[in-house]
Amino acid sequence: MKVLVVGAGGREHAIVRALNRSPQAPEVLCAPGNPGIAQDARCLDVPADDVDGLVKAALAETVDLVVVGPEAPLVLGLVDALRLHGLAAFGPRLNVAQLEGSKAFAKAVMEEAGVPTAAHRVVHSVADGLDAIGGRYPTVVKFDGLAAGKGVVVAPDEATATQALREMLEDRAFGDGDVLVEEFLDGEELSLFALCDGERAVPLVPAQDYKRIGDGDTGPNTGGMGAYAPVPGAPDPHALCEQVHQPVVDALKRRGTPFHGVLYAGLMLTADGVQVLEFNVRFGDPETQAVLPLLRSDLLDLLLRATRTGGLQGAQVDVAPGSAVTLVLASAGYPQSSSKGDVIDGLDAVGEGVEVTHAGTAERDGAIVTNGGRVLNVTAIGEDPLHAREAAYAAADRITFEGRQLRRDIALRAVERTST
Ligand code: AMP
Ligand code: GLY
Repeated sequence: MKVLVVGAGGREHAIVRALNRSPQAPEVLCAPGNPGIAQDARCLDVPADDVDGLVKAALAETVDLVVVGPEAPLVLGLVDALRLHGLAAFGPRLNVAQLEGSKAFAKAVMEEAGVPTAAHRVVHSVADGLDAIGGRYPTVVKFDGLAAGKGVVVAPDEATATQALREMLEDRAFGDGDVLVEEFLDGEELSLFALCDGERAVPLVPAQDYKRIGDGDTGPNTGGMGAYAPVPGAPDPHALCEQVHQPVVDALKRRGTPFHGVLYAGLMLTADGVQVLEFNVRFGDPETQAVLPLLRSDLLDLLLRATRTGGLQGAQVDVAPGSAVTLVLASAGYPQSSSKGDVIDGLDAVGEGVEVTHAGTAERDGAIVTNGGRVLNVTAIGEDPLHAREAAYAAADRITFEGRQLRRDIALRAVERTST
């Protein structure tokens, strides 16, 4: 069995590691990977957005499965191209990858599927936007398109909302694209991944992501500065999946565009029940680094089954007891800018039972150096959030590099909730 993982981040490193734990003992390849992944997989020098190059490599290597990590190759049609060549690929086709790429498409599918989501209206002018808001603050203004994480403004008052609407609609700060005004939802966020085989959705462990750069959820949004799983006090994942993921999978099947791959729901747990904030069509980063180490089932088997229509029937996801906490070590300046080439010390000093996955690292003269953005992830497992958290911070503090950024409050919420 030969598997090719596409991508170069911490998420892909965690996927590679989980595949290596499979009793099927697959040969694991990664394109392009990074210096950390290269210790666990054979890396191919093909960028993650080179669809032709990836198809050629998968054919030349006669792989049994391609697992697509990031969104970019999915919206470039990598899965369609691989399937055209008879290759098994884990991930959605282009026509459903839009669930992540287009908020308007996602809203339409949710409406059709009867999935709870914030009320919204597409608006075409500032006046139209203010009319849709109707004086109800806070409110949310969203740009429907790629905006490097800056396309969502939670506006506490009319001045902020007006400014956001102006930037998006008049200055076209993010280019062309629809603008949505959305009802503000108050509550706690949760990431729930479900593996989908075109017909059914099978949930993994719920996780919580820390999106802001600073302690206490301050400062700009990032790709995610840490995560933990499971989430104490969260609703049963099977019940959430029946309410959210399964109706979407059903609706897409009815449309004749079945969803295969992982459906990632960004959820808000409000006082009135669960609401969907967004869908992604890939594993989340860094949540995956916390979720997969808790998985006892054979990930390879589950991913292969998801590529076949109805293949997940009867699938059981066996999860280890205990908690996983993942910390992100980011480079100086992140997320606004990015420092590269700083030597990383202490990678060998983290101790037993701690997983270090590489994201933005590079090799220079035999040393591992930073390569910008989020650099490393440190995941520890413990019997409860407290022990996992302590082990993760103890290990992370042994790893040093110039300008290292590390949030100090990851999983604190879970600890507080389980110790009272
Ligand atoms: P999104 O890209 O739509 O997930 O939005 C990014 C972040 O903005 C989310 O993770 C939430 O923290 C926040 N957000 C988005 N939509 C809402 C909403 N309707 N109510 C409250 N917060 C929201
Ligand atoms: N952790 C958020 C994401 O993967 O989009």
